Amino acid sequence: QAKPITVVVTGAAGQIAYSLLYQLAAGSVFGEDQPIDLRLLDIPPMMGVLEGVVMELQDLALPLLKNVLPTADPEPAFKDADAVFLVGSMPRKEGMERKDLLAANVKIFKVQGEALDKFAKKDVKVLVVGNPANTNALICSHYAPSIPKENFTAMTRLDQNRAQAALASRIGVSVDKVKNVIIWGNHSSTQYPDAAHATVEKDCVAHPVSKAINDDAWLNGEFVETIQKRGAAVIAARKMSSAMSAAKAAGDHMRDWWFGTKPNQFVSMGVVSDGSYGIPKDVVFSLPVTIKDKKYTIVQGLEISSHARAKLDITAKELEEERAEANAVLQQ
Ligand code: NAI
Repeated sequence: QAKPITVVVTGAAGQIAYSLLYQLAAGSVFGEDQPIDLRLLDIPPMMGVLEGVVMELQDLALPLLKNVLPTADPEPAFKDADAVFLVGSMPRKEGMERKDLLAANVKIFKVQGEALDKFAKKDVKVLVVGNPANTNALICSHYAPSIPKENFTAMTRLDQNRAQAALASRIGVSVDKVKNVIIWGNHSSTQYPDAAHATVEKDCVAHPVSKAINDDAWLNGEFVETIQKRGAAVIAARKMSSAMSAAKAAGDHMRDWWFGTKPNQFVSMGVVSDGSYGIPKDVVFSLPVTIKDKKYTIVQGLEISSHARAKLDITAKELEEERAEANAVLQQ
């Protein structure tokens, strides 16, 4: 059997982790022949709850799980980490301004960036799920200068999965027939879900989704708004934020990063911008990427309509504002 890899989940006592940990232990992310040494990080008041999660992990009776360490200390958590899911963050409390939330979380991701820098492997793959995910990933990377910037990504895969499912449902095909829908920008309501390059497979031939749907008003209007507001709709109905679907998306994101994307397919990830598509550098922006040998490449040369350009600019501006707010907090 292969040597175990070290996988870290922060916010391990929370609701996303509760669904994510099963996928990791069952081998659906890193493969069914890859043993795992699992590190669970949360804050001291959650250690009791975390004990219960550890008991349940034991009771899964899954052979890939070699070792489980619950801890509130970043050093043993991140020591020699191969893959890290940064899920833990401060939730938004009633009456809390967006700025207060950003301030609280930016500080957490600074501390975790420093810990990763000191203790994790230099080729560690870090996926930031905790919100504001894009800016948290940027800050985390900034405080881990010995780890390449490319090793920090933010999750927009849930948005991609939502968009893919919505298009498949509208066309009336199974979800796996729809490919290459893109989420541009921030994991927030300014994100731009873009079906302009998406295809749908019918009778073994890929057709443009825009032709199959043939309703630009819906694609530019209701579709975009539904995806942008889907998280809020789930909260309104469930009284809790998306967790099962968020955990599944985190697994999808990491699995593609680990094993690569399929031919002719791209996926969306928040990555440190290199200026592609005229997006400002040094923000974490969701872009279409292909992945090979655990390295992603930003898909180049996609045509951007003037409609799309305006949407990209809005979400880029929001990310620049978040970066400025984060820097102001960190300089205090
Ligand atoms: P939750 O509140 O159930 O769990 C969060 C956990 O993080 C708690 O156990 C808390 O104690 C822990 N935590 C807080 N500070 C920590 C720290 N400094 N170190 C380690 N752990 C810490 O929240 P849930 O539902 O699991 O969501 C987690 C995050 O994921 C939230 O920020 C949420 O907004 C975000 N999210 C992101 C999505 C995305 O698409 N990027 C989708 C859905 C949620």
